[in-house]
Amino acid sequence: MDLTHRPRRLRQDRIRDLVSETSLEPTDLIAPVFVDATTNERVPIESMPGHERVPIDDVVARVEEVLEAGVEAVMLFGIPESKDPDGTRAWADDGVIQEALRRVTSETDAYVITDVCLCEYTDHGHCGPLEEELRGDALEDGPACEPTMTVDNDATLTALEKIATSHARAGADMIAPSGMMDGMVGAIRSALDEAGFEGVPIMSYAAKYESAFYGPFRDAADGAPSFGNRRHYQMDPANAREALREVRLDADQGADVMMVKPALPYLDVISAIRREFDHPVAAYNVSGEYAMLHAAAEKGWLDLEAVALESLLSIKRAGADLILTYFAEDIARQL
Ligand code: PBG
Repeated sequence: MDLTHRPRRLRQDRIRDLVSETSLEPTDLIAPVFVDATTNERVPIESMPGHERVPIDDVVARVEEVLEAGVEAVMLFGIPESKDPDGTRAWADDGVIQEALRRVTSETDAYVITDVCLCEYTDHGHCGPLEEELRGDALEDGPACEPTMTVDNDATLTALEKIATSHARAGADMIAPSGMMDGMVGAIRSALDEAGFEGVPIMSYAAKYESAFYGPFRDAADGAPSFGNRRHYQMDPANAREALREVRLDADQGADVMMVKPALPYLDVISAIRREFDHPVAAYNVSGEYAMLHAAAEKGWLDLEAVALESLLSIKRAGADLILTYFAEDIARQL
């Protein structure tokens, strides 16, 4: 055969690495860590094999394990000792994350990012204090509509400012607001600057979808909404252009890193943001993405290490610079 093009030439073992377009390093990864103020011992998270909620006394040891695997950054999530309608324990100076932060930042070299949201702290499980939303037709004559409850956007911003500054005071290296409130990045940026934390970057969950892939996380962090869903603030999975708009708004408000969440079902969104913006792009390979690979592997249907590696490499290929993933430690060890 007289073939001019034989792409297989470059697929031989000795040249593969030289021509590979994407690489995955342990330093691309961020490991989520759950700190639980309600327990004195580690509690395994059933739907996320290998992950546990750790008590405050154990958080330094937990972060050391992550560092030993070669991962340099962690994202802390907190389970508070009590909840109320406004989520006040989220900004308490003796709150679970604030206490964990003081220990982890003074005793380890980890780069510590905190998730800033209210859903784990409110007793109703929504991402901010609630208000009644009067629908237009409820105000007119005729059968009145039931008022529906929704998250009070602007009241939530005030709470997010308090949470972010309390995290920064306790030593957070980076703040990651995940509540999808309008104006959250700008509000947090001004609050941090006013408190003297101009140097603390914001990684915005800029395009966070209302996704069914968060199920295992909501068990883990005890943050499922007690009624309704998060459709009135998280994004519709049908929309990609809207993600660019969200990112543009966050860029205008001073976000440093733009996150897309979940990752695998939204690779098109990651790649569109990569093309249109010059900010670092983060992707959150969420709990459901982790759980489904584990479940299939447990049945012997998939090779866990191989599919995890392929997933993370694909997220990078799509355009992510950094990846939050429950596979962080395992993959870092493998690399
Ligand atoms: C909420 C938050 C959620 C996740 C991260 N931060 C849950 C939600 O929005 O319901 C999900 C992460 C995962 O599924 O791994 N602050």
